[in-house]
Amino acid sequence: MIIRDSERGLTLIRQTEHARLCGVMAHAWGNDRFQPPEPRIPVIEAAAEHDNGWQEWEDAPRLNPESRQPYSYLDIPVDQHLEIYRRGIARAVSRDPYVGLIVSLHGSRLYARFRAGQPGATEFLSQQESLRDRLIQGLASDPGLEPYTRPDVLEVNRDLLFGWDVLSLLISHGAAWQSTVVCPTDYEGNRVEVTVGGGGERWQLNPFPFREPLELSVAVAEIGAKSFADQEALREGLEGARRRKLEVVIEPG
Ligand SMILES: [Fe+2]
Repeated sequence: MIIRDSERGLTLIRQTEHARLCGVMAHAWGNDRFQPPEPRIPVIEAAAEHDNGWQEWEDAPRLNPESRQPYSYLDIPVDQHLEIYRRGIARAVSRDPYVGLIVSLHGSRLYARFRAGQPGATEFLSQQESLRDRLIQGLASDPGLEPYTRPDVLEVNRDLLFGWDVLSLLISHGAAWQSTVVCPTDYEGNRVEVTVGGGGERWQLNPFPFREPLELSVAVAEIGAKSFADQEALREGLEGARRRKLEVVIEPG
């Protein structure tokens, strides 16, 4: 769950919606300066599905008793987050082994960077490494995908997804907390710092990584309250939420 807090109340964006936006970005990625993702369809699917383990949780979000708001991806306890991520990775693997490989790499990056030392993190990281070894072995007999299981190729696809993840989060939050995002420009190891400008419903990127200006329609739920007495109050708030679309444009900066 992504939460925007304002005077008027809360604006909530589901992780599954945020991931869908990553898929749209992956689909539109590429021009003279930026090489499009390869293998195209599995990487786009990995982007679009990377947070889909949140789906069940977000159907009935749990209340953080301290903030009195639903947990967001930032404060959700590690046991719930691990359950979400394990479910999402398993679903991605069952959909397509290469999709699972990239989603697993993304999960490991999140745990290595942001949740290292939390209970279960080390175990999760080693389980994911074993899972990826198995997936790579399985893909060795697939001549169409085997070349894309090389470590350097996987690293680029993992970093592309991380870049889309950050860009999509910035847009979902409506404000940039960082002014650059490092993105691969090819599969030869080159990377560039993309400068992020703007905010709200109009954003600028330089250099511009998409084929053309990108229009995104973001599904949000607006609740006219900022805190909830208990789980039931949160459920009622969500039931009465105003659901609408934010129209966002990303253009060359
Ligand atoms: Fe994400």
